[in-house]
Amino acid sequence: MKPEPVEIAKGIYWVGAVDWEERDFHGFRIERGSSYNAYLVVDEKITLVDTVKQRFFHEMIERVSQVVEPSEIDYIVSNHVETDHSGALADVKELTDATVICTEKGKKGLCKHFDCSEWEMKVVKTGDELSIGRRTLMFVETPMLHWPDNMVTYVKEDKILMSNDAFGQHFASVERYDEEVGVDEAVRWAKLYYANILMPFGELVKRKLEELSTIEIEMIAPSHGVIWKNPQRILEAYSKWASFVSERKLVVVYDTMWESTSRIAKAIAEGAGSEGVDVRVFRVRNDDISDIMAEILDAGGVAIGSSTMHNTFLPSVSSFLTSLQGLRPKGKLGVAFGSYGWSGGAVKQITEVLEKLRFDVLPPLQIRYRPTDEELRKAFDLGVNMAEKIKERV
Ligand code: FEO
Repeated sequence: MKPEPVEIAKGIYWVGAVDWEERDFHGFRIERGSSYNAYLVVDEKITLVDTVKQRFFHEMIERVSQVVEPSEIDYIVSNHVETDHSGALADVKELTDATVICTEKGKKGLCKHFDCSEWEMKVVKTGDELSIGRRTLMFVETPMLHWPDNMVTYVKEDKILMSNDAFGQHFASVERYDEEVGVDEAVRWAKLYYANILMPFGELVKRKLEELSTIEIEMIAPSHGVIWKNPQRILEAYSKWASFVSERKLVVVYDTMWESTSRIAKAIAEGAGSEGVDVRVFRVRNDDISDIMAEILDAGGVAIGSSTMHNTFLPSVSSFLTSLQGLRPKGKLGVAFGSYGWSGGAVKQITEVLEKLRFDVLPPLQIRYRPTDEELRKAFDLGVNMAEKIKERV
């Protein structure tokens, strides 16, 4: 049985591929795999919007072939250079004389990845339109969502936004639409994706949402995961995430050598919980950093703890802090805590990271060897204090 295309609107087909096996997207753990969504618009000029990872080329072409002869493709829109979307572009070009449409930066990127010396390429910028017959494609540059070259393609007559990475989810499924998996479930996967890929670019996301609000969108067809038949839900979620709208939630992240830091973490969590704040606790050695980042995205506060080893934090905490500094969450309340034996270091260094991130940083809690009952009370009180401050801010 051949892979089937899915007609998402009259004459517009999903011709992508589902990747059930992938578990890692440059360090971001994707436990449900992903999909690489390419779209075929059949009009007087036949247009393929994005391709797939190279190893899925044949699967994509089999889907295309059930609608049109691949040699009949007139345009290939490359919304994004990253090879989960452009990986099969050169293979498609072997089959057709199609003109490749991309941004200026897209052209530079594509021509570093592939030999494009013989390709006909058309560079577009925001607001440019291309008539393909009954339909018009409009392009909007979306730099840093997710690379500098990105753009989205809007099919004006059908009101479909082919948004590439934006609004995507790393989520492999047999279903193609948000409603089929449940809109809330789709938003949950989109949040994980946003937190780990787009969190640093909140200001740019806000500006682009503003720009996109001027066009009428009935469907958002991203290049990963399910298609949004309820575009308003994901647009609202993006607006909230881009503004770091916080909930009454404290995330406690730590690692521990001999359970002292772990006991402090639990006391902080219990203190915050006693004030009615939602608390999430992660021992970073056991939990996945990608999941923790999704919780931090909309948390009011973050408490980070580590035992001191070799005058610094534990390697697991170091790895977490590296990711945190890269993803740059904003507007959070923060505190560092931990235990030490003969000389400290970890708590001070965690505090420095929190300050660098411009969190509102509370005085840290550092305890020597085992926490006494009195010291655990201080940790509990710290949790209470954080909860009160989170409630004031939200
Ligand atoms: Fe899905 Fe930036 O690639």
